[in-house]
Amino acid sequence: MKILNFGSINIDYVYGVPHFVKPAETIASSSYNVYIGGKGCNQSVGLAKAGAHVYHAGAIGSDGIWIKNQLQNWRVNVDLLHQIEGPTGHAIIQVEPNGQNSIIIHGGANQSIHLQQIEDALQSFDSNDILLIQNEINGLAELIHQASAKGLKIFFNPAPMTPSVLDLPLDKIDVFIINEVEGEELTQKSFPEDILTSMAQRYPNASILLTLGEKGAIFSHQSGYFSVEAKKVKAVDTTAAGDTFIGFFLASWAEGHTVDTCLQRATSASAICVTRAGGAVSIPTKEEMEAFI
Ligand code: RIB
Repeated sequence: MKILNFGSINIDYVYGVPHFVKPAETIASSSYNVYIGGKGCNQSVGLAKAGAHVYHAGAIGSDGIWIKNQLQNWRVNVDLLHQIEGPTGHAIIQVEPNGQNSIIIHGGANQSIHLQQIEDALQSFDSNDILLIQNEINGLAELIHQASAKGLKIFFNPAPMTPSVLDLPLDKIDVFIINEVEGEELTQKSFPEDILTSMAQRYPNASILLTLGEKGAIFSHQSGYFSVEAKKVKAVDTTAAGDTFIGFFLASWAEGHTVDTCLQRATSASAICVTRAGGAVSIPTKEEMEAFI
């Protein structure tokens, strides 16, 4: 089973701030760092660090070549990553002392995906394989149609949520990975149980993995309902916590573990991630996750 993650790569510019900047306010940051990020990239790194073989497809500009090199060091296959004219995607991230973040993204190369690239990327994948996608690249509808026609199992993390997600062929998704905000925007329900019921009614063949931050996570599908509590740790920076969860959940799933084990591993890896600063760099290894458990 191969995993194709077709997703974003960002250069994250991260500022430590006393509080998120308000309208008409100018504040000084207490720290400034540049990290590798992007939801797609972070999830590929999570998968690779969890021990999965992952192919990352997407696009960068020449200013992102250092990220491609680092991805290779982390054993992410980057053969399907294109280099284009123009800038790599980037994010401006404020981090408060309690670890909460606030993010602005600029798509850059992430918004340059074209039909031929999608066709080429899917060529070496078939019905034994998995496609993982997020909502930070263009071309998602075509990607879903083509992957579904080839029988790939599609995991979709509709983050960051935008109204355009509702126009995608969501009936072709096998597993939705959503948080409460995304769940509410998809279903107009705010309680976790209601979100899950509504998602099950709309997409009866799909499984739903609902992450609840400090309240843990729930996995729901036709034959069962599984939940896990979050681990209690002191958060330094929550950036990439959700991406780490997804990477470790999917890597464990691909290894054939039970849903309970997948959830335990994902929650533990994500707990370690929030105790560290940065995006991809804050994602733990499989060994660190096992030691934590
Ligand atoms: O999920 C965290 C990521 O969201 C950051 O790395 C940033 O690049 C944004 O895409």
